[in-house]
Amino acid sequence: MAELIEGRKVADEVVATVKEGAESLRAQAGVVPGIAVVIVGSDPASQVYVASKSRKAKECGFHSVQHELAEDTDEATLLTLIADLNADPAIHGILVQLPLPAHIDAGRVIQSIDPDKDVDGFHFINVGKLSTGETDSAFVPCTPAGSMILTQRVRGHDLSGLNAVVVGRSNIVGKPMANLLLAANATVTIAHSRTRDLAALCRTADILVAAVGRPQMVEGDWIKPGATVIDVGINRIPAPEKGEGKTRLVGDVDFEAACAQAGSITPVPGGVGPMTIAMLMANTLVSACRRAGVAAPSF
Ligand code: GUN
Repeated sequence: MAELIEGRKVADEVVATVKEGAESLRAQAGVVPGIAVVIVGSDPASQVYVASKSRKAKECGFHSVQHELAEDTDEATLLTLIADLNADPAIHGILVQLPLPAHIDAGRVIQSIDPDKDVDGFHFINVGKLSTGETDSAFVPCTPAGSMILTQRVRGHDLSGLNAVVVGRSNIVGKPMANLLLAANATVTIAHSRTRDLAALCRTADILVAAVGRPQMVEGDWIKPGATVIDVGINRIPAPEKGEGKTRLVGDVDFEAACAQAGSITPVPGGVGPMTIAMLMANTLVSACRRAGVAAPSF
């Protein structure tokens, strides 16, 4: 039976470190970390995410502002808001919740965020820093940053000699995760929907990261015995066993089957999910510390 990697517990530890760091920053420099979360439209899933980000920011003692813009907001208005936030000294982190409505060019919006306040790590400057190994001054996207902390809790900091397979090539998770694993000396393969014989490739993985958004796609016999499995997926599926119309959350991995093979595995929920918000808080604190010239805690 695989060891459970308890993301919720690790996330609580990260948040505790953030709270201490925020308190120490306030004591040393009189600075309170500030985060602005921007949401356009009323997508229910995005509303839930944004509300929990704002709640966690307040819990960390941050100055937290939320900008809720109507679905038909034009791009120029959004760009003006971001320019204001870029110029606001009380704001150290800016997050524009994705997806944006189709009439807005999300790429242009993301590139308009000051890279020093880009706590999502999506700006080209931060992507470039991560891919060239400048991790000390980069912002790393929150989900892969959290996934990496969980991986290193069970595998240590140096992943030399280990094969890592990342299933999924998104800019938000797959590609930055591959770069983080590479920076930790793993031998990394990125797999995707056009990969031939995905099952055989996954069986080579000492570290398997599933980030495709397809419920329970990774089967138990795709997993190398003893492997570490990081399941980034959060998918809602029907759960008739719980009653009519009920649903439940599952990952991209068939958890029950995977547990019989893996050495360690993240559950869904309670694995990678809680780490994402915790790392957003960590990135915001780091941003505020950099601006104030105060050493930030390491995560
Ligand atoms: N939508 C889904 N995940 C994310 C994320 O990590 N950051 C932002 N800004 N939007 C998202």
